[in-house]
Amino acid sequence: MEMKAGRSSSLRLLLLVSCCVCVAATYPFGPPLDLDVTPRVTVLSNSLWGCRRFSSSSAVNYSTMLLEADSQRLFIGARGAAFALDAADISASPALTIEWEASAEQKRQCLLKGKDNKTECFNHIRLLQRFNSTHLYMCGTHAFSPLCAYIDAETFVMSPPEEGRDKCPYSPTTGYTGLIVDQELFTASQYEFRSFPDIRRNSPTLKTEDAPTRWLNEANFVSSALVRESLSSGIAGDDDKIYFFFTEGGQEHGAASGGHSRVARVARICKGDRGGLLTLQKRWTSFLKARLTCSLPEYDFHFNMLRSVFVVPGDTPGDTLFYAIFGLGWKNIKASALCRFSLSDVQEAFRGPYMETQDSNWKEYSGKIPDPRPGTCITDTTRAKGVNASTSLPDDVLNFVRRHPLMSQQVRAFDRRPLLFRRTTDYTHMAVNTIQGLDGQEYHVLYMGTDEGWLHKAVHVNGQLHIIEELQLFEEPQPVDNVLISDRMLSVYVGSPSGVVQLPLFNCQRYTSCYDCIFARDPHCAWNGYHCADVMVYPDKSTLIQDIQKGNRGCDNTQVDVSTHSRSVRVGDDVLLQCELSSNLAAPLWTLDGQELHGYGLSSGFRTGTDGLLIIRARRDQSGLYTCYAVENQIQVAVVTYNVTVAPDLPFPPTKDPRRRFPALPLPTPSEGAAAPAPRMPHSKMLSAKSMEAVYLSLITILGSLCVVLTVVLFYVGFCLRVGTRGKYSLPTATAVYQGAKRNHRKQQRNSASLELKTISNNGHGVHNGISKLPNGNIRDGGFLQIVPGEAYPSPNTEINPPPPAPPLPAAPECNFANGLSAALPSVLRRMHGNSYVLLNQSDAERASPLCSTFADELNRILEKRKCTQLIPRPDESSV
Ligand SMILES: *[C@@H]1O[C@H](CO)[C@@H](O)[C@H](O)[C@H]1NC(C)=O
Ligand SMILES: *[C@@H]1O[C@H](CO)[C@@H](O)[C@H](O)[C@H]1NC(C)=O
Ligand SMILES: *[C@@H]1O[C@H](CO)[C@@H](O)[C@H](O)[C@H]1NC(C)=O
Ligand SMILES: *[C@@H]1O[C@H](CO)[C@@H](O)[C@H](O)[C@H]1NC(C)=O
Ligand SMILES: *[C@@H]1O[C@H](CO)[C@@H](O)[C@H](O)[C@H]1NC(C)=O
Repeated sequence: MEMKAGRSSSLRLLLLVSCCVCVAATYPFGPPLDLDVTPRVTVLSNSLWGCRRFSSSSAVNYSTMLLEADSQRLFIGARGAAFALDAADISASPALTIEWEASAEQKRQCLLKGKDNKTECFNHIRLLQRFNSTHLYMCGTHAFSPLCAYIDAETFVMSPPEEGRDKCPYSPTTGYTGLIVDQELFTASQYEFRSFPDIRRNSPTLKTEDAPTRWLNEANFVSSALVRESLSSGIAGDDDKIYFFFTEGGQEHGAASGGHSRVARVARICKGDRGGLLTLQKRWTSFLKARLTCSLPEYDFHFNMLRSVFVVPGDTPGDTLFYAIFGLGWKNIKASALCRFSLSDVQEAFRGPYMETQDSNWKEYSGKIPDPRPGTCITDTTRAKGVNASTSLPDDVLNFVRRHPLMSQQVRAFDRRPLLFRRTTDYTHMAVNTIQGLDGQEYHVLYMGTDEGWLHKAVHVNGQLHIIEELQLFEEPQPVDNVLISDRMLSVYVGSPSGVVQLPLFNCQRYTSCYDCIFARDPHCAWNGYHCADVMVYPDKSTLIQDIQKGNRGCDNTQVDVSTHSRSVRVGDDVLLQCELSSNLAAPLWTLDGQELHGYGLSSGFRTGTDGLLIIRARRDQSGLYTCYAVENQIQVAVVTYNVTVAPDLPFPPTKDPRRRFPALPLPTPSEGAAAPAPRMPHSKMLSAKSMEAVYLSLITILGSLCVVLTVVLFYVGFCLRVGTRGKYSLPTATAVYQGAKRNHRKQQRNSASLELKTISNNGHGVHNGISKLPNGNIRDGGFLQIVPGEAYPSPNTEINPPPPAPPLPAAPECNFANGLSAALPSVLRRMHGNSYVLLNQSDAERASPLCSTFADELNRILEKRKCTQLIPRPDESSV
């Protein structure tokens, strides 16, 4: 049954992905589904602004965090230690530290239990919460023997530890959530390996029921939240409830669930529950649960694995919203969806019909419901009926509760569909900040961490998420374990295995023009006439320009500074005019003397890529003023202008080397890189025959290996598709990459995960090397690449122009002598975080090893990452 469910789901994913690809391919006939949202700006870790870090030599796994706005303290629970940091600047030393590691004896016993001494046999702090005005409470796994302890919050000194078995899971990775409310500890976990999952209160003790109906089924807890719902109640807090979010085995198989083996749930209990007197003694009398659905209805595609939940309080309890990140429960396939739920929908489900089980078949219960309604809290209403505590609930009510934990109605996403869907990104944790825009609307800004250590900042506008930026937090990919926001400190804090990072909530100065500022659609930022500024510091906001709704209004009267570069080339040269767009959402548009350049095909003599315009075999009539525009949100913004003069082809000076009749190939030295203005070299400095030979050889090597790699990619894609149709897992990205490469070079296709390979043509000696033809298997070897390196200009946004991750590579021969040549290749494949691969300009002069990052290396790494299991080698059936 489960196998079948998984298979049909993976088929559906395949279908979904192919649909996206088809829709994107037939773009003229309809707008592409904006499912796979592309972050507008990419910032690598070496360009992060205002970043502060904390890590200690004595600890790893900084996964538990507690922020206290009043004391401006950030408390961190790690493996083997707890810290109290200054929330204003977490890197400010010294941090108050509690070293708390399990003893050697404890670790030995943990090892004897068969546990992993590299991960499990340590003290992982899993709970760190405020207990009362003077103390915190902390629990750790303590090498598979949990302990808890109070901490004096002022001095940050720990009291002697106490037993923690009922409060804390044994393992560092088991799903767990804990809350201290009015000095009562509510936790939910599968505490021990063999025990049933349980939602507990510690004293007075209450638990979930296991018989005759098991209330929780292999539940993996994600989050919990207190909602104070007792607004008009006679006794303060009597209707307050605690909501738990988790994924569990779907019991209602074959019912409305569509046969999903795991489902996302919300459960709730009343804070004031005292349990039953005889029936349900020391058990919750108020436990109810319902299914959360986050799906793409038009594809009948469901996201079932809950990963993170963030509760956004509203003016009334019913206005409470929660954002939830969902994933797919399959290994090897990454995908995330983000859905929003409203508490009133949850409450409605809990007011609706119950499910009942008969012979382990679940169906809606249609019989009589006892009074007071099972699962409600003891409030004025129940007291009016003579029930003033859960212990005095009638037996029929308690028996009903015992057998009917599940509601029939599902809680659907508020928007009936995900706000965001991303392939190949696994979001792990999230926090949400509310801020008022200049238009008077409240906007939710989401900070979402990924499993590879990136942070995506997104704003929610009209049922869609616009990802403002993606920030690489760590050089080493690692999962984000926690995200917290401080409004007062204007900071977001991110916990990870290697440390804690503090970042400003916004960085308006990244945006250098009015258009850049409004395209960003960041509610924190507005254009003040001079620069993109923090909205909050302006008491008079009337002159500020911001457009979060559409991201294109208000800048009509502002000046755009465009730098002009003069270029002189000879007839027949290939010329690359560079134009880096700082936004991943912008598409380039070129004009020549004010006329838009149409038809960038080979015959037109022009080609565009993501990083510039290539003039192939320049003719004299191609002289003129070239302007590159970035087109974003239907607005064209000039980026750079080139005054190109194509001079007649001068005869070459006499030479001993016949190959000298080729125009010179200027080879910038590595230190110059391609970033320094690369003046054309005088002919006397032309390459010697020997090094020319080396150049040829290395080119051939590179192209050859490229060919091999791409062929492998295509076969591989083919296999994966075959595998996919058999119900195994397919690789959506690889498919999309292939499709993308086949299609044109429009940058917008980054949205559908395209692989853009720019054509580099020769300059009139008869051989074309259309690298872009590779996917068609149409490569011709032995060509001569010749590029006059574009005049690199300092990018207005150096953050966008980062070095590619420097891979530890063997010293391949081409890396040694083809340095200039590699630099002359205009681009390397840069991995955009997520699912897109684009060619990016090698214009960063500081790069340590720019030369070894070839297409082939990058593709190899992609392949390594996306190895599909169980390849069935049937080349004849591949989709090549
Ligand atoms: C873990 O235990 C093994 C023996 O089972 C031992 O060889 C290894 O050194 C231990 N590793 C650590 C980090 O303690
Ligand atoms: C807070 O709780 C701790 C631990 O139980 C206790 O020692 C301390 O006195 C309490 N503080 C207050 C103000 O009640
Ligand atoms: C209601 O609670 C009070 C104590 O708080 C108790 O004395 C009384 O008997 C209770 N009434 C009923 C009907 O249970
Ligand atoms: C703890 O950190 C290490 C790396 O430092 C990582 O391999 C491990 O998975 C982390 N464990 C948990 C429970 O996060
Ligand atoms: C372009 O350069 C040429 C000389 O190289 C010059 O005569 C011409 O005025 C320039 N055009 C512009 C618009 O700057």
